[in-house]
Amino acid sequence: MLDPSSDMAHSEPMRGFVRLGGLGDLDALPAIEAASDALILAAGHQEWDPYDSLNDWRRDAETSLSDGLLWVALTPEGNLCGFAMGLVRDRDVYLAQISVDPRAGRQGYGRRLVTRLIDAARNRGAASLVLSTYRDLPWCAPFFARCGFVDWPPARWAAWQFILRAAEAARMPIETRQLMGIAFEDL
Ligand SMILES: CC(C)(COP(=O)(O)OP(=O)(O)OC[C@H]1O[C@@H](n2cnc3c(N)ncnc32)[C@H](O)[C@@H]1OP(=O)(O)O)[C@@H](O)C(=O)NCCC(=O)NCCS
Repeated sequence: MLDPSSDMAHSEPMRGFVRLGGLGDLDALPAIEAASDALILAAGHQEWDPYDSLNDWRRDAETSLSDGLLWVALTPEGNLCGFAMGLVRDRDVYLAQISVDPRAGRQGYGRRLVTRLIDAARNRGAASLVLSTYRDLPWCAPFFARCGFVDWPPARWAAWQFILRAAEAARMPIETRQLMGIAFEDL
């Protein structure tokens, strides 16, 4: 029977599909992220990597997975080609990472991953889904805006968002970055 958390039921199987991640998926994800970073580097930015080690990344990925906030994309052949990782932060969910292997890029996997994570965050009762992204790259802020994210000004920031901004400011030109979010409840 088809897993109801998979979107195969909602899309043509030949377009590949998006489903909840599993433990067996984790080993493949760092290579997908590394491949997707090439897009950011080619655009003249440095990648945002908050992890000191692969173990740190793995710990977050396992937490995301157990919270039902790790979604993966697979090609029609069943090969992992992308993922979106959400992390619980206070009452919010942080979209910490989204990556699609450029060889599978611009085929809609990114949008489908974002849509699934929005639904997952809303369904678990989060107050909002928030991310930090590049202002100028067409597949970053403009894309997230088309997915429903709005600018998330300092007046709205929770404590963890101030900490995130400070961590980014220590590693990269902060003016290139923008917090965006979707609120699931009225302020
Ligand atoms: C962002 C990312 C996950 C999108 O994955 P994807 O599978 O290519 O995404 P989609 O095919 O669903 O396209 C997403 C949108 O970005 C746009 N887009 C994607 N690549 C683009 C490019 N190279 N140039 C211009 N627009 C682009 C598409 O037009 C699409 O917009 P639409 O859905 O409104 O038409 C992927 O580009 C990636 O991994 N980038 C590197 C990591 C990154 O930048 N992450 C973002 C967080 S800071």
